[in-house]
Amino acid sequence: MPKYKKVRKQGMKGDFLRQPDRIIEGENRLINVFDAAGKNIDNKVVDEFGKEWLRFGDHDDDLVKKGGDEYFDILNDDIINSQTYALDVGCGTGRWTKYLAAKIGFIEAVDPSNAIFAADKLLGKIKNVRLSKASIETLPFADETFDFVMSVGVLHHIPDTEKALRDCVKKVKKGGYFFVYLYYNLDRRGPFYRLLFKISNVIRIIVSAFPGKMKHFICDILAVIFYMPFVWAGRFINFLSFKDLAKRMPLHGYQNRSFFMIRNDALDRFGTRLEQRFSKSEVTEMMQNAGLTDIVISDGIPFYHAVGKKL
Ligand SMILES: C[S@@+](CC[C@H](N)C(=O)[O-])C[C@H]1O[C@@H](n2cnc3c(N)ncnc32)[C@H](O)[C@@H]1O
Repeated sequence: MPKYKKVRKQGMKGDFLRQPDRIIEGENRLINVFDAAGKNIDNKVVDEFGKEWLRFGDHDDDLVKKGGDEYFDILNDDIINSQTYALDVGCGTGRWTKYLAAKIGFIEAVDPSNAIFAADKLLGKIKNVRLSKASIETLPFADETFDFVMSVGVLHHIPDTEKALRDCVKKVKKGGYFFVYLYYNLDRRGPFYRLLFKISNVIRIIVSAFPGKMKHFICDILAVIFYMPFVWAGRFINFLSFKDLAKRMPLHGYQNRSFFMIRNDALDRFGTRLEQRFSKSEVTEMMQNAGLTDIVISDGIPFYHAVGKKL
């Protein structure tokens, strides 16, 4: 990991709820560090994500564009625009912060792991972003601050997902929006998919218990033997112009993705010890319970990504 110069604690004139415990000078900007993380966090998972994102942080523009277009297919100009003040909770490498920074007024991006340094690198000189090392339960912003809050692929790695979702929604202004991506529980799939998932889940439980480098190595192998056969078969079927059949293949979302991203996702999928999965109705219910209305759950991959408006 690169060395970062620590600068002395200094008062913030901005709109944090409390002062950062430290401010670290990153390569491109200052990073505010809030140490208290609360209880609703799995510190081992966070630590591992820090390592993962420092290794896989160099997303190219094509990956950010393709992924962002898929995730944010359900957003429109009423939800986000150049006036929007936004919060990205669990930003990781900041890839979706980067995607949205071009469309949004200003984004606060937070993550409790060392991924925040990868985000600093990926976001480069982009000006309308501020980075903080902070956790969901102790977000350093007043309630009802943001026009738009998003949490992409984060809440299913947190012990109490529903509480974490409520904590995010608290930060949304009335009339503002919350966007979430949560792993689906394969409720829209048939028995073959479910069987594959059960097998892969057993592998995940075993692989995620391995120490760092060994785990990364095994996940690279899994990317080749588990993902690539489906990806290659799907690409071939697509090449033969059986496009609908190609779309029904397992892991079809990876057919237009680079091997770098597949390795990254294999590590995400098999290397993480805590993951939870939800049906479409559970996602809807959690969002409603948090005070959201006008909920839209996309029919597109990745399942499920959804947006709702705060009452
Ligand atoms: C799968 S990554 C997703 C990163 C990013 N949103 C993306 O989609 O590329 C999950 C992220 O959630 C973060 N995370 C885990 N527990 C968290 C918590 N309690 N509060 C905030 N972020 C958390 C991890 O550090 C990790 O960067």
